[in-house]
Amino acid sequence: MSPAPTEKNFDKGLANTIAAESKMSFIDGVNGVLEYVGIHIDHLARNSTFEESTFLLWEGRLPTETELEELNAALRAEYSLPPGIIDLIRTFPVDSPPMHALQTAIAALALHDSDADVNDPEANRRKAIRLVAKTPAVVAAFDRFRSGKEIIEPRPEMDIASNFLWMLNGEEPTETMAKALDVCLILHADHGTNASTFTSLVIISTLSDMYSSIAGAIGALRGPLHGGANEGVMRMLEEIGDLSKVDEVIERKMANKEKIMGFGHRVYKAYDPRATYLKTFAKGLAEDTGNMELYQMSNRIEEIMNEKVAAKGIFPNVDFYSATTYWSLGLKLDLFTPMFAIARMSGWTGHCMEQLADNKLIRPGSSYTGPHEIPYVPMSDR
Ligand code: CMC
Repeated sequence: MSPAPTEKNFDKGLANTIAAESKMSFIDGVNGVLEYVGIHIDHLARNSTFEESTFLLWEGRLPTETELEELNAALRAEYSLPPGIIDLIRTFPVDSPPMHALQTAIAALALHDSDADVNDPEANRRKAIRLVAKTPAVVAAFDRFRSGKEIIEPRPEMDIASNFLWMLNGEEPTETMAKALDVCLILHADHGTNASTFTSLVIISTLSDMYSSIAGAIGALRGPLHGGANEGVMRMLEEIGDLSKVDEVIERKMANKEKIMGFGHRVYKAYDPRATYLKTFAKGLAEDTGNMELYQMSNRIEEIMNEKVAAKGIFPNVDFYSATTYWSLGLKLDLFTPMFAIARMSGWTGHCMEQLADNKLIRPGSSYTGPHEIPYVPMSDR
């Protein structure tokens, strides 16, 4: 039996606590390294696909050609949403934030899945496939519905990135767009015990079900200190307006001790390796799509932050240049965080399966700071 925690174990924000073991992603925050199952993120971004990286995260190795074909076929067979979920989406207020719509629809998918409460490895693997396959359809269906457009059926001959853009826009994406989105999905697929993944672990560790875990994770992701930061970056760029105002706005925010969205990280005290890749990407896409001023504004913010806070270990994180990238891909601002959720679905589900393979209820202690021995006072004497 492990000893009871004492006050000296208190670790606010769990910043110095190792709460799980995982073979999925390795992060070296000092040197700015991220690997999925030992493979450098840059090599995966250059050579892999989101589907292949998902197999890697779930199985702990790269697939053979046949295994990848099998996973692709299994995912594509699950692209469609049950009619009940489409009906449900049609009841959502059109001004709902897409992350609330996504969380509600994902929780509701449990009602249409006979595996929902079966917690064996095969059923969980089937649910993981369904969650990765159906999340893009939920995001696209809600966006079409709120825009007064017909909901578009998925195209099973397409990969996840291309099919998402098809369902969202009703047009086949260009190869460059589909490739750009696929790389974004790879870069966001997993990242250790981040806040949303930890949320999913806490829920699954009670032997609840995968849909409940993932709905919880979506709730954690939407916060502006986590995945919501990519939307925050874009709102900040809109607030700044043009390149000539960058210095003034950032100086003012820093003087007011406001956090600059897209900078800083709990683990990385060096340049986030995903941001390195996204910066190059954002520049190329901005050039191609006439959004160069957006890129130049971001670059200028980075220069200012470099002078002011790089010495404290604060650099751009994954959310900073993904904002320009998503904008250049034509995505609406409030779809940025749902994009993160589409990608992280492979990480969340993988971590849930990993946790269940060697489960222990996650239940930390807390340090009581209230009074003791207080007499109960009857209502009439208060
Ligand atoms: N802008 C200005 N100062 C910052 C920033 C920032 N973005 N981030 C951290 N700092 C400063 C902070 O003010 C504090 O300074 P001091 O020591 O002088 O009080 C110091 O750096 C440490 O900050 P912290 O908030 O205590 O550090 P943390 O490890 O608790 O927070 C963080 C990490 C990501 C919550 C924080 O950096 C932040 O709020 N960043 C902005 C939001 C953001 O971009 N989030 C996305 C995170 S990465 C991807 C993801 O998880 O989705």
